[in-house]
Parts: sequence; structure tokens; C-alpha cells
Amino acid sequence: MRIRGGASLGGTIDISGSKNLSLPAMMASLLTDQPLSLSNVPRLADVISAIELLDYLGVGVRRSSSSSLVLCCSNLKTTEAPYDFVRKMRASVLALGPLLSRFGKASVSLPGGCAIGARGIDLHIKAMQQLGAEVTIENGYINASAPNGLDGCDVNFPISSVTGTENTLMAAVLARGTSRILNAAMEPEVVEFANLLNTMGANITGHGTPIITIEGVESLHGASFEIMPDRIEVGTYAIATVATNGRVMLKGCIPDHLSSFLEILKAAGGVYEPVDGGILVYRGQDKIEPVSICTAQYPGYPTDLQAQYMTLMTIANGASSITENIFENRFMHAPELCRMGANIAINGRTATVIGVRKLSGAQVMATDLRASVSLVIAGLIASGETIVNRLYHLDRGYENLEVKLNNCGADMERLEG
Ligand code: EPZ
Repeated sequence: MRIRGGASLGGTIDISGSKNLSLPAMMASLLTDQPLSLSNVPRLADVISAIELLDYLGVGVRRSSSSSLVLCCSNLKTTEAPYDFVRKMRASVLALGPLLSRFGKASVSLPGGCAIGARGIDLHIKAMQQLGAEVTIENGYINASAPNGLDGCDVNFPISSVTGTENTLMAAVLARGTSRILNAAMEPEVVEFANLLNTMGANITGHGTPIITIEGVESLHGASFEIMPDRIEVGTYAIATVATNGRVMLKGCIPDHLSSFLEILKAAGGVYEPVDGGILVYRGQDKIEPVSICTAQYPGYPTDLQAQYMTLMTIANGASSITENIFENRFMHAPELCRMGANIAINGRTATVIGVRKLSGAQVMATDLRASVSLVIAGLIASGETIVNRLYHLDRGYENLEVKLNNCGADMERLEG
């Protein structure tokens, strides 16, 4: 992506549906033989990967409109999720819970490493075992079986895990008796996902608190469900707006899903005003204030908005520190930002950022999804021209990014690689 920096963003951006709700929602189609209709599904590479995996498993998938999918698992072909699919998108491990719970067996490739950290799925496996599945690991595959079904129980997560909680929900909804997930993730995507499962006939309560209770039911039925707006997309464009000293209306967002983030944005000099169904964002003062953050599980500051925030702090009026508590290697955007003139020092899980007057455009390389968009924001505020390479990272999580930003006055062009 070639970006000519310097413009202040101005206009309106329609926020797309949430990637991190769409992925588990699509996997939930495995839990019933009836059609599951999902609307406001973003057109992303990760959604296409999930469609390919579900198609391989035997789920019928069709686009009923540009942003709606109808998925129907009425004749499954296999309970194996092969390495080729899982290595492309680790959220494929969300096939484990529903395959085990409805079909009594699942063979899912281990996802392997990830750029941002080890990202084990040991807690997913432990949860399935606690619910009564036999699990072996061989040849890089998780082989889980529960020929007589699963038995509800307490499943304790020493670390709260978003997809771990979602996988366990899908395993428990058809288990015999009552299950409780202790130290459950409370992210809005998890809460909405539990709401989706309840719409399909599940009996889940307590979602959004650390203890979720699931009463097993005989079977689930189809449903129609609208995917909520992507709160990480909202935060990303809010940061881009404040960084470029712009003024943008972010349409379709739920401010309550971002309260920690919005508090920090305000402290850093941003202003946001709820306006019918969205928020108007702009910079409320000349300077960007240096404000330190620590990422945490919800409702703390989201790790998925850490890289974008670092870019904002590179031009703040002083020094700030950014501590990444969720993933052990999520600062790979820092060296690339330094190539654009940023002053960042990394020490273990903490980055110290000393604001500079200006960034200057350069050739940079994306390393993961959120790092890639932090480099785009840097290109928007830098003087001169920036080229961001390896856009496949970006396309995993942002729908029509350059269209949305160019409509707000950015000067961006996608070059052939
Ligand atoms: C989800 O990943 C999101 N992905 C991530 O978004 C997000 O960064 C993350 O939650 C944290 O909010 C989806 O929802 C598809 P975790 P997930 O399990 O579920 C450790 C993006 O940019 N852990 O909550 O994989 C893990 O290593 C992506 O959109 C174990 O050790 O994250 C991490 O340090 C990136 N063992 C911590 O827990 C396990 O079995 C939290 O991870 C599971 C997790």
C-alpha cells in the first residue's frame, strides 16, 4: 500500500461487522442441522478462510447478500479440520467444540505458532477433557472423542481465554446437565456469541461475568442473527482520526464496548461525541498528550488496539509507556515505526515511546494484523510517502480499508506486489 501522508481525515466511516464475533458465529452452524443465517458479516480474508473450512467439513454455505451468509450443516462430510486450514487461521480451532459436542468426535490440527506469541490451546484441550472427552495429540493433531456425549461440569480457566470460552460454550450447550465456566472471558464478542447460541435454543446465563452457567439441551435449531459492529475497527479509525487531527463520524458503533479505550483516547487529547448510532471523533487540543497504558482482558484496554495506540504516542508531547500483558511478542510494529523516525525502546513487555515532532515516510513491512494497520496510521501522519508491504496481514481483519480512508481524504493506493 502506497500512502502519501499529511491529510487530516474528515467525513464518515461505516463500521463493518465484528471479525471476532463472525468467526465463532460461523462455527456455531456445526451445532445444528438447520440453517443459521448471519447478517452484517464483514468481507474479510479470515471469513473466507472460515467458509473454506466449513465447506470442507460439509457445511453448506451461501452468500444471501453482500454481507449475509446462510450456513447449514445437515450432512457433515468429515470431523477432521486439516492443517492447511488451521495454519491459515488459528480461529479454526473453534471447530473442536461443536464437532465434539454434536458428533462425538473431532480431529483438529494444532494451530502451531503465531507471530504475536505462542498462543497455546492447552486450555481448550483441558476444557474438553473436563467435559469428558478422550483427547490425544499425535502427528500435530488434536484427536478428541466422546462417543457417549459430554457431561456438564465446572470448567476453570487459569487464564481467561476468548476463544477458549467460546469453544467451551459450544461443547457444553449439548452436554448432559449443568456446566459452569469459571474465569470466563467477558469480551463483548463472547457475550454476543452466547446470545447467538441462546437464539439457537441454548440455555446460557451469566455471560459477561466471570462465571457463565450452561444448562445442556437436547439439540439446537437454526436462527437469524445480526453481527454487531467491530469495536476494534472503531478504535482503529478513532486513533487514525485523532492522529491526523481530523474529524470523522464513525457510524454503527457501541461506545460501551470500548469504555477503557475511549477514556484513554480522551486523556490523550481526543474527543468523542455519541451521535445517533455512532460517535463523532476529533482532536480536542493542539498537542497529543502522552498517556501510558497496560493491555488487559476486557473490560481493560484491548490488546488489539495496542499497536495502533503506539503509533499515536510516537507523536505525543512527551514520553509514555505501553505494557502488553496478553501476548508475549506483540511489539513487532515498533522497529518498523522506528524506521519512520519514531523513538521507541522495548524492554520485555514494556515499550517506552518518546514523542517526536514528525514521522517520515519509508518502506515498512507488516508482520501481523494489528501491526499492519499501525503502520498505515503512521503513513497517514508521516511526511512524504510510505509503502506498507505484506498487506495480506491487513486484509485478514479490515474490510475496504483504503476505500474508507480515501473517502475521508487520505491518499492511499494498493500497488500490485
Ligand atoms: C482472541 O484470540 C482474538 N481472536 C484475538 O484477536 C485477541 O487478541 C485475543 O482474543 C485477546 O483478546 C479471536 O477472537 C478470533 P486468548 P484468542 O485465548 O482467543 C493464552 C485480532 O487481532 N492462552 O484470549 O486466541 C494466549 O497465549 C486477534 O483480531 C493459553 O496460554 O486469545 C494469550 O496469551 C489477535 N492457552 C492469552 O491466553 C490457551 O489455551 C489470551 O489469549 C488459550 C490462551
